[in-house]
Amino acid sequence: MAIALRPATPADLGLLRHWDQQPHVVAAAPNDDWAWEIELGRNPEWRELLIAELDGRPIGFIQIIDPAREDSHYWGKDVADDLRAIDIWIGEADDLGRGLGTRMMELAIERCFSAPEVAAILIDPLLSNTRAHRFYQRLGFRPIGARRFGEDDCLVHRLSREDWAQTHGLSP
Ligand SMILES: CC(C)(COP(=O)(O)OP(=O)(O)OC[C@H]1O[C@@H](n2cnc3c(N)ncnc32)[C@H](O)[C@@H]1OP(=O)(O)O)[C@@H](O)C(=O)NCCC(=O)NCCS
Repeated sequence: MAIALRPATPADLGLLRHWDQQPHVVAAAPNDDWAWEIELGRNPEWRELLIAELDGRPIGFIQIIDPAREDSHYWGKDVADDLRAIDIWIGEADDLGRGLGTRMMELAIERCFSAPEVAAILIDPLLSNTRAHRFYQRLGFRPIGARRFGEDDCLVHRLSREDWAQTHGLSP
């Protein structure tokens, strides 16, 4: 299964808007407005917007941010400066539950930890999204506490470099 991540570009606008309307994507983030027409046109150094492709076919989206430098301070102004935070979804319902998300996350995690200064990765699934909790926990993320972001009650999960190295046989 050849999955690769590439930067999202303004040419992905229609695709991302289409995915945004899929019920499983809405259910995971009902209050999010990604303002794609603006965001696809800018490239701040604290963020990567990525499209996952399976044998060249776009299948999903990943955002990686440095939460300490992200400009809305979504994670709070006192967040540590050695972290990354990830958002992920599969675009089409037919592609759910086939192992694609797991491979996408592995690639995203490896991308984050390839920067030696990154100590851990954060994820903020809705408290109600228990299937996503299971997905992240299988990858080694640990729940660290409930937290409200705007109107969303979330269960924050964290994956340390050490935990990832231990489960994947890498040196920390
Ligand atoms: C979460 C997600 C990226 C996982 O990718 P995937 O390719 O479906 O997952 P895999 O096939 O690798 O692994 C299967 C696991 O994914 C999770 N999963 C599958 N469908 C899901 C869905 N609609 N919503 C949430 N999690 C789901 C479950 O944990 C599932 O294991 P289970 O069958 O034991 O419940 C994908 O399901 C998705 O995009 N879900 C909707 C959006 C979402 O919840 N994103 C996360 C927000 S924080």
